[in-house]
Amino acid sequence: MLERESLSLFSEAARKLDSGFATLPEFQSESPGMSRLAEVLGATAERLQDNFPYFHPLYAGQMLKPPHPAARLAYALAMWINPNNHALDGGRATSAMEKEAVAEIAGMFGWKNFLGHLCGGGTMANLEALWVAAQLRPDRKIVASEQAHYTHGRISGVLKLPFESVACDARGRMDMNALARRMERGDVGTVVATMGTTATGSVDPLREILALRTKHGFRIHADAAYGGYFALSENLGEEAKRAFARIGEADSIVIDPHKHGLQPYGCGCVLFRDRDVGRLYTHDSPYTYFSSAELHLGEISLECSRPGAAAAALWATQRLLPLKKGGEFARGLERGRKAALALFDKLLADERFVTAFAPELDIVVFAPKAASTSEASVLSREIFEAAARHDLHLAVAELPVRFWEANLGVMKRDRETITCLRSVLMKPEHLDWVERIWGLLSSAVNEVVVARN
Ligand SMILES: Cc1ncc(COP(=O)(O)O)c(C=O)c1O
Repeated sequence: MLERESLSLFSEAARKLDSGFATLPEFQSESPGMSRLAEVLGATAERLQDNFPYFHPLYAGQMLKPPHPAARLAYALAMWINPNNHALDGGRATSAMEKEAVAEIAGMFGWKNFLGHLCGGGTMANLEALWVAAQLRPDRKIVASEQAHYTHGRISGVLKLPFESVACDARGRMDMNALARRMERGDVGTVVATMGTTATGSVDPLREILALRTKHGFRIHADAAYGGYFALSENLGEEAKRAFARIGEADSIVIDPHKHGLQPYGCGCVLFRDRDVGRLYTHDSPYTYFSSAELHLGEISLECSRPGAAAAALWATQRLLPLKKGGEFARGLERGRKAALALFDKLLADERFVTAFAPELDIVVFAPKAASTSEASVLSREIFEAAARHDLHLAVAELPVRFWEANLGVMKRDRETITCLRSVLMKPEHLDWVERIWGLLSSAVNEVVVARN
């Protein structure tokens, strides 16, 4: 079931890598002995079985996508060298690969003369963007929507920055009236526009935020950790399409290759439109090892050591699947979105369910119809568990009743939020599995209903 065919390519690639060092004198590396190694590897495989099958299309819950075989293999290959992309001395080849791969990502947003690099993930990338924002707008507030990723508030706390949330509209996007009112009070340095919220995939109205910037002059940070790659997708709705078309006008962008970019964890990316922010990173540590005149990634990054392997994996993946509209990678994203729309249509047409709003990207949220929102919440959890017993893995989320208002009908509103089911259909394969997913979901719902009667 796990993709193992590509493993056969590994030995040959490792041999090729080794041949690059053939002139060195032979040495005997410490070996643990094959039988001990086999034993511990077997034990590791056994421990790893205790996981949800994230790689399988029936895993349709959280934002998890298996790395591409090219990424897995390139990452593993680089492990034999274990380069450190802090500086060229630690990772010459992979630093160059990082610069190329990151330039391709920036190219998706129309940026050529930018500053950016890879980092541990979306949280680190957002931390860096807000750290830069705060230095450029000291003592001014960071504002994000109440559906922005929870780490923005936490990051602001870590950086000791004043942070405020603004309300969302009924579709989970930043409410523009609320933002405009907030602007009238002044004191806002940076607005975080979430280009695909974690819970529902809602896209903040960037066009309108940009219009407000013209009037108030704040910075815009686009948190596109999850949604950024949809800039390549050609099957978005009009509003999302318009927002993504303007993303290059943000001051900074975060995008996570370890979400939609087919990379193993530990791969986020932060980009700044103005290269000049590089001056904010200046340091002259006596023990760091900048031994060449060329720009080291460590000079433009908050973190010190960073895995060169992550850059090798990303570079290899993008070489195989270039980040182009209409290309194979973009078609994969479009398939996930189509799957989400297909599942949404089924839910909409079925009496047993209530939906919030149509997916803007590839996340669907839904709940069982019930007499009250509290009963629907209890049922959601029961369906979540019943589905898992059928090998269908969904997620649960807690969303404001306001998101559902238009579709609740006579359902009693006895809670401010609804515990609902959430499905991120982010694998291209999901499109071929919608019928199976629907069949298993139906069985789970029936099982819960029968158990209650
Ligand atoms: C919009 C958004 N921003 C930031 C993050 C945090 O990213 P990470 O988990 O890579 O730190 C996430 C994670 O889901 C996200 O969806």
